[in-house]
Parts: sequence; structure tokens; C-alpha cells
Amino acid sequence: MSETTTHVGSGKVRELYALDDDRLLLMASDRISTFDVVLPTEIPDKGRVLTGLSAFWFARTRDLVENHLLEIRPDGRSLECRRLEMLPIECVVRGYLAGSGWKDYRASGEVCGHPLPEGLSESDRLPEPIFTPATKAATGHDENITREQAAELVGADRLREVEATSLTLYGFAAAYAAERGILIADTKFELGIDRTGRLVLADEAFTPDSSRFWPADQYEPGRPQPSYDKQFVRDYCETLGWDKTDPGPELPEEVVAGTRARYVEAFELLAEIPFDRYLDDPEVVLR
Ligand SMILES: Nc1ncnc2c1ncn2[C@@H]1O[C@H](COP(=O)(O)OP(=O)(O)OP(=O)(O)O)[C@@H](O)[C@H]1O
Ligand SMILES: [Mg+2]
Repeated sequence: MSETTTHVGSGKVRELYALDDDRLLLMASDRISTFDVVLPTEIPDKGRVLTGLSAFWFARTRDLVENHLLEIRPDGRSLECRRLEMLPIECVVRGYLAGSGWKDYRASGEVCGHPLPEGLSESDRLPEPIFTPATKAATGHDENITREQAAELVGADRLREVEATSLTLYGFAAAYAAERGILIADTKFELGIDRTGRLVLADEAFTPDSSRFWPADQYEPGRPQPSYDKQFVRDYCETLGWDKTDPGPELPEEVVAGTRARYVEAFELLAEIPFDRYLDDPEVVLR
């Protein structure tokens, strides 16, 4: 990296560098966080899977929604992006009842103010995908909020645009993935505003970190589903009696290998590109 590059931040997974006033370099590390704690063990190539899949989706959705991607770097883990003013909400879309959505539904019959039919089971498909925003907690856990609360944070008109955009993106990717054997149960976007005031898709898109990917052939409502994300790591952590505060546990080799294999499998199923080919030439996901 050139000496004019300035490190401007570290997320749980990404390192952010400013290339100039208008451009950022987003470098995805191999760090894995579970229950919002970054674990001491890395998953080799995880950052490349996230970067490759995000770039893949950015290239395929740019006619639906503008996005921040400018270039993918030869390391396969760094994206040159437009620097945006990020909206202070997480834009979540759910097509199925899982995670905090299932928890909220069981407690109240609603998810983020969306009333849902009675009698739904865990992992059931929703009558229609719903937009369920969350706060962006600087530390700790994101919290679901109603659309009214989200409108207070970003403005009512902007929120309508954000909701429509999020639902459009989800609809496209869910249909695309379903044809390739993956159900996208839910997903999270981060959107930003460019200098001209336009809404732009940023961060990562439809990765196993930002989404619940379920193998379609094993789908069976009424229970939690196996998934291509950190579930394997979470399940292992649950066996330890760890209190889910920092520091997290080291992961044994077989959990590392199993997790890496799931990330790579999700990449190959969705992008239909052998992962080794991506490592040779990351731009292959843009074509
Ligand atoms: N185009 C962009 N302009 C400005 N900031 C961006 C842009 N794209 C992404 N970001 C920000 O970069 C950061 C990405 O880092 P990372 O994903 O590691 O952080 P995190 O969101 O805190 O962690 P996690 O994803 O595990 O919750 C986020 O804070 C995101 O809001
Ligand atoms: Mg993030």
C-alpha cells in the first residue's frame, strides 16, 4: 500500500483506509466475531470470501441500486470504494422467521412493528419479506427498532427510499440464490449518502456474515436451520460454557476447517466460480 494511505478505522472484521477525500479502501480480514466478540483464531480466506461475494453482488445489482464499489484489488480481500456518509441504521430484510425476528415474534406476535399472522413456527417463510431496521450500536449488540424510530434517525422520506431499496435488493438476491440451492433467510445492508445526496449501497452485500444462508434441500420449518454462516462456530462456543464476553475462546483446527469450508461452499454455490479461480484473478466475480 502506498504511504499516502491513512488508516481511518477498524471494524470487527474490516480495516478502513482513506485513499483520498473521496475513496476508501475496505480490507476484510480473516477475523471472525461471534456474539459480537472477535475470536482470537482466524478463519483462513474468510475475508476473501466476503470481499468476493460482495463484489459479485455489487456487479449484479448495480442496475437496481447504485453501490460504492470502484475496484477490487488483486489480494482478493480489498475493495476500493466511494466514501459515503453512512446512515445510522442497519437495514435488515427478513424473508423467514429466524434469530431476533423469531424471538420478537414469539414475545409479541410482531417483528419491528410488522404484525404477522398467528401460529408461525421457527424458520417459517413470511407471507412477504419485511424490512426490520436496527440501531447501529457502536459497541455491543444492535437492537431492533420500529420503522417510526428509524424515520426519526434518517427522515421519513429517506426511510421510505431505504425500505423500498432494501426490499428490491433482497427480492433479487433471494430469487437468484434460491435457484442455486440457497435460501437467504435474512440479510443486513448498510446504506450511505453520496455528495449529491443519492442513496448508495455500501459495506458488504449478501455474504455469510451479513446474511443467514440456508441449504434449500435441508429446509424444514419448526426448528433452527443449518446454515453457511458462523453457526458452526456459535454451536462450538455454546458447548464451552463461555460467558460470551471478551476474550473469546480459541477455535480448534476442525472448527476452523469446517467453518472455512462452509464459507467457500457458499461462495462457490452463489458465484458459480471455483474459489481457486477467484484467488488467481479476483476480477472474475465482476464479469
Ligand atoms: N462506502 C463507505 N463509506 C464509509 N464507511 C463505510 C463504507 N462502507 C462501509 N463503511 C463502514 O466501514 C465499516 C466496516 O467495518 P466492519 O464491517 O468490520 O465493522 P462493523 O460493522 O463494526 O463490524 P460487524 O460487521 O461485525 O458488525 C463499518 O463501520 C461501515 O459502516
Ligand atoms: Mg460490518
